[in-house]
Amino acid sequence: MRILSGVQSSGKLHLGNYLGAMKQHIELQQGHECLFFIANYHALTTIQDASLLRQLTLDVVLDYLALGLDPQKACLFRQSDVPEVTELAWILSTVTGKGLLDRATSYKDKVTKGVAASMGLFSYPLLMAADILIYRSDLVPVGKDQVQHIEMAQDMAGYFNATYGREVLRRPEPKLNEAMIVPGIDGQKMSKSYGNAIHLFDPPKETRKRIMSIKTDSTPVEAPKNPDTCIVFALYRLLATPSETEALRSRYTAGGMGYGEAKGLLADATERLLGPARDRRMQLAANPDFVEDVLVTAGRKARAIAETVMADVRHACGVVVGKGTHLS
Ligand code: TRP
Repeated sequence: MRILSGVQSSGKLHLGNYLGAMKQHIELQQGHECLFFIANYHALTTIQDASLLRQLTLDVVLDYLALGLDPQKACLFRQSDVPEVTELAWILSTVTGKGLLDRATSYKDKVTKGVAASMGLFSYPLLMAADILIYRSDLVPVGKDQVQHIEMAQDMAGYFNATYGREVLRRPEPKLNEAMIVPGIDGQKMSKSYGNAIHLFDPPKETRKRIMSIKTDSTPVEAPKNPDTCIVFALYRLLATPSETEALRSRYTAGGMGYGEAKGLLADATERLLGPARDRRMQLAANPDFVEDVLVTAGRKARAIAETVMADVRHACGVVVGKGTHLS
């Protein structure tokens, strides 16, 4: 079973990214073949500043390693270290109807939010399908918002195989984690673009301040409170143990606790998760050669897999003659 997923390097990662995707990725490294990459080609649809893109790419790598991704177990690489994905994206575009891409909701959402409607943004699902299909991935662990893209990748694998009359590309399956919705400080889904995120590696003081600014209602301190409508509680239960969660639940319903105190507990739980990771991250950041070595080694492994699949793809569609060696 080969597991693959990607994360865009288009901004600082936040608790929603961690709880919704990265945590699951890191757990899957036990006992599965895992390929995880930093989608820096995809990030070009929103980041068009070279030094910023390099920095954001490195940040994602440091975040993953600090949070527990083990480069001995999982491959962590840059999308662009396997440039063949762009070749496959092109080939897929020739067997895919434009109507399929017209139905992509994430394109429409992003354009509504002000992202430039470039061809790259429109073709985003093609490149994402190529990312998945080029490694013959079985399973793609993602958040809910990416499921449509995985379904498109399934369709595109089918179109290619049907066009050329053989099973060259494998249909991947999405893997959702238990429908976890991580609210931001305003109660909407936590998202980079809503300005409501709690970032993973801001200075601890800033994170605490952010948590203290979470929107709560005006129930007075003495009154009992409903934990199930409270953003602070919703976040706390995602970070705390079940018994801690139950303890806080009773304090809500008993009354006599202000929201400030609940926020303090949430800030402590957040720091408990991120504090040790922050230290590891600092050590890693001071060791850029090690980090680059992780990326290059993993990128070579991934590229070797991609090359064998691309040899079959090129052969199936006739863009090579003879044995199918492309270059050299
Ligand atoms: N679109 C994904 C996101 O924004 C990132 C991504 C790019 C990806 N290529 C992928 C995820 C391939 C899974 C598989 O989160």
